[in-house]
Amino acid sequence: MTASFPVVRSRRLRQNESLRRLVRETQVTIDDLIYPIFVEEEITEPLPISAMPGVFRIPECKLADEVRAIAADGVRAILLFGISRRKDAVGSDTWSPDGLMARMVRIAKAAAPDLLVITDNCFCEYTVHGHCGVIRDGVVDNDLTIENLGRQAVVAIEAGADMVAPSAAMDGQIQAMRAALDAAGHGNAPIMAYSTKFASSLYGPFREAAGSGLKGDRKTYQMDPMNGREALRESLLDEIEGADILMVKPGLAYLDVLAELRRRTLLPLAVYQVSGEYAMIKFAAAAGAIDEARVAQETLGAMKRAGADLIITYFARDFARGAI
Ligand code: PBG
Ligand code: ZN
Repeated sequence: MTASFPVVRSRRLRQNESLRRLVRETQVTIDDLIYPIFVEEEITEPLPISAMPGVFRIPECKLADEVRAIAADGVRAILLFGISRRKDAVGSDTWSPDGLMARMVRIAKAAAPDLLVITDNCFCEYTVHGHCGVIRDGVVDNDLTIENLGRQAVVAIEAGADMVAPSAAMDGQIQAMRAALDAAGHGNAPIMAYSTKFASSLYGPFREAAGSGLKGDRKTYQMDPMNGREALRESLLDEIEGADILMVKPGLAYLDVLAELRRRTLLPLAVYQVSGEYAMIKFAAAAGAIDEARVAQETLGAMKRAGADLIITYFARDFARGAI
């Protein structure tokens, strides 16, 4: 039989900070965090993103300095997003060896060789229509798109990326990328799959950050936020296709999915604290409603507690600096 009050007093281990630390179950360290950055070609000054206070579009010409500063702050991994001025119908700049994606990778690796460089592999910042792939007969064509993702992955890895992270939410995209990488001799290149990616309104600020001209929505390829079982199925399919890391995105509103997925896979799990989650904390704090640093720490901790091994977050740099 389990003892209960007055023998059991849970408050015994909460009496002071040292005791609390001694029994704390979850820690967040900078080793777990990935910092997303937005890089725009043909601009010369950093451009503030109004929906994401503290986040800027970085000019390509200043990327090397920025990456050195990020690494000096203690960040260990970055996720690169490009904002293209060479958009076309299919996003072909992404698989050009001299395109923005390849250039960002080369600049970042040359500036800070020990910083892990991950590419977000998609097309929406490089297509005139803003969709995540090739449009055919009015819809995003799955199989044409994954062929292009394979090309893009090879270019990113050959430019020096440490890992690719496909976010287009196409069926079979992991298999297509794995096959393309292996055929090009890159059997060691890891894939972090945006495996459970919901069609979430929490990406709102990202659309401003990335300059996406999307009309309509992504509901035919990203998941219905109401579907928990399908969410698990999507991630487990990506595991079968050869993903090295699985991901749940967004984070806070989907911790049930993350916790359940943790029980069903042995792969490392990532979670993306997306732009809208960041904005909610930033604006609530600016209004004096909450304490930014504490709420940021609490949400990151909650994601780890729910099962995340790594977290993609716009707070990563402030965390590295000890500002949160
Ligand atoms: C590109 C992509 C998006 C995000 C990451 N990669 C936008 C989208 O899918 O609409 C969202 C990130 C964020 O909101 O912070 N497909
Ligand atoms: Zn996309």
